[in-house]
Amino acid sequence: MIGSAFQLRPSEPRGQADAAVILAGLPTPVVVLDDQNRIRSLNPAAEHFLKGGASVLTGQRLEELMPPDSPIFALIETARNTGSIMSEYGLTLETARFGQRLVSVQVAPIAERPDHVVLCIHELSMAAKIDRQLTHRHAARSVTAMASMLAHEVKNPLSGIRGAAQLLEETANLEDRELTQLICDEADRICALVDRMEVFSDARPLERVAVNIHEVLERVRKVAQNGFARHVRFIENYDPSLPAVLGNRDTLVQIFLNLVKNAAEAVAEEGGEILLSTGYQHGVKLAVSGTDSRVHLPLVISVQDNGAGIPEDLQAHLFDPFVTTKRNGTGLGLALVAKIVGDHGGVVEFDSQPRRTIFRVLLPMAGRDGVA
Ligand SMILES: Nc1ncnc2c1ncn2[C@@H]1O[C@H](COP(=O)(O)OP(=O)(O)O)[C@@H](O)[C@H]1O
Ligand SMILES: [Mg+2]
Repeated sequence: MIGSAFQLRPSEPRGQADAAVILAGLPTPVVVLDDQNRIRSLNPAAEHFLKGGASVLTGQRLEELMPPDSPIFALIETARNTGSIMSEYGLTLETARFGQRLVSVQVAPIAERPDHVVLCIHELSMAAKIDRQLTHRHAARSVTAMASMLAHEVKNPLSGIRGAAQLLEETANLEDRELTQLICDEADRICALVDRMEVFSDARPLERVAVNIHEVLERVRKVAQNGFARHVRFIENYDPSLPAVLGNRDTLVQIFLNLVKNAAEAVAEEGGEILLSTGYQHGVKLAVSGTDSRVHLPLVISVQDNGAGIPEDLQAHLFDPFVTTKRNGTGLGLALVAKIVGDHGGVVEFDSQPRRTIFRVLLPMAGRDGVA
């Protein structure tokens, strides 16, 4: 039977006892390592994750459980050396013992014990988010292929049809002109639709420079408040010391316009609020699939609204193209957000409950901190 290493001892003061109960009940695997990477304690979720009982695992070095070239060791070392919390998204842990697992890991130094660290492994929620994020990229890619097809196969014949209608118009009587006009108008409408899709077919790498994200958000707020978001109260919570984003200004404006537009459409006519915030999150990295490199994503920009929330059944497909609940919606807004964030090497994630829907965009910063 798997026992708990966080057992209650009768002599423990109440606060500590509570902490032990909480740790034991936590679904997240938590492991404490000493300065030699020896397991000092672990909770039942960690025993389950590492497929062993506390009595066997306690005292073992992590190197005995995982291959020494596992990226987790570099993460632990950095946390020790810098004394700060490190997190890494989308890490693959592989051992003979428990096979291959896609996880996100946080390593936090323990202030009271020199060189001890606590390891939190998120197997489901975070990794699922990453998984979802990568799925978004697939979704964006499928639109990309379709957009190029549409541009070639639809737009060219369309301009032929329009031209022919215009020729007919020259000799048509008044009654028939109404029909040729109809052909032209409809051709224009389809053309505009294809144009909207065409942004997806642009597969060129983005030109990226240092961009002040607060300037981008300010611009977005002004456009919104003078147009579609007149009824909304904006609250800004910016970290003024935030470094510049390594990004493409125009497409960043597009991302946040789309997110703010959705937020504005989600809130009530009265009492609608949108909170724009920025912050620095230390040590967040995204593993670049198929390579050993990791991109640092320390800049977090979020758009939060107090609307009704995203319907549960929509959430798994939210970033797919043509997913919409609006009568005149295109369902392309979030697909485009996913594409552009992907082009920036970033991550977009969301949490939604009634009165609190939040979209978070994680982006790389300009300067020294590119790909590690
Ligand atoms: N902040 C939000 N609150 C509630 N629902 C949202 C929010 N953002 C997006 N959605 C849902 O996601 C769908 C897709 O959004 P999007 O891709 O921008 O397309 P569109 O806005 O044209 O419908 C929306 O129709 C809406 O149902
Ligand atoms: Mg939209």
